[in-house]
Amino acid sequence: MSLKDELKQDRLPSHVAIIMDGNGRWAKKRGNSRMFGHKHGVTAVREVTESAAELGINFLTLYAFSTENWSRPKTEVDALMSLLVSTISSETSTLMKNNVKLNAIGCTESLPSSVQAKLDTCIQKTSANTGLTLTLALSYSSRWEIIEAVKQIAADVKDNQLNIDDISADVISNRMATSGIPDPELMIRTSGEHRISNFLLWQLAYSELYFCDILWPDFRRDDFYRALLDFQGRERRFGKTGDQIKK
Ligand code: FPP
Repeated sequence: MSLKDELKQDRLPSHVAIIMDGNGRWAKKRGNSRMFGHKHGVTAVREVTESAAELGINFLTLYAFSTENWSRPKTEVDALMSLLVSTISSETSTLMKNNVKLNAIGCTESLPSSVQAKLDTCIQKTSANTGLTLTLALSYSSRWEIIEAVKQIAADVKDNQLNIDDISADVISNRMATSGIPDPELMIRTSGEHRISNFLLWQLAYSELYFCDILWPDFRRDDFYRALLDFQGRERRFGKTGDQIKK
């Protein structure tokens, strides 16, 4: 039986988030430049997106460029931005074929205009697709997102649009960049690092975390299925006891 066949269709997560890590180390092991790793990382992005769409997963969120990544050498940042432009162009037809809707979260105004334009075009073109929603976190950090949400809430309170006593978890979730998207049930990080790195801190409150040693450019469908199988083997208690969950 293949790993895919072992998956229980009725226990798939509706939202999977991924920290795609290890591109640089993958390239270094091959005596190549970091960009060589990022370029090969695109194959893994395609494989995971296609398999999530095939499985009927509703939301996939990929951490593609963090706020902190702006402090990498300019040559790497520029090359990553060019890679984003060329990948969004070349992959739009694959997104259409797989009924995938593209979305972006983050401070996208800080991206070069060429990236913003390609993103807007692809988001527009795929907007009527009804399958997987693929969200790219670009120039994103969770603390940035939380600061933006707090500012909005403070402004609403100041303008008498919101009472302090009405501030709830839902009010905060609705001010997040992920508003309208359910919290991820599963977060995967590749490359053996065991950190959240400023990614979806609010949304990951009850997520199952899965870490594997595979470097991102090597991540393939079977690795994704392994993560999903591991998730399906877990008991999600949300603060309750195991006996309460089994009832
Ligand atoms: C982390 O590896 C990866 C990134 C910062 C960039 C991710 C980009 C891609 C996978 C390619 C383009 C993506 C899309 C969505 C089109 P790292 O550079 O931190 O690796 P290291 O920890 O080994 O140095």
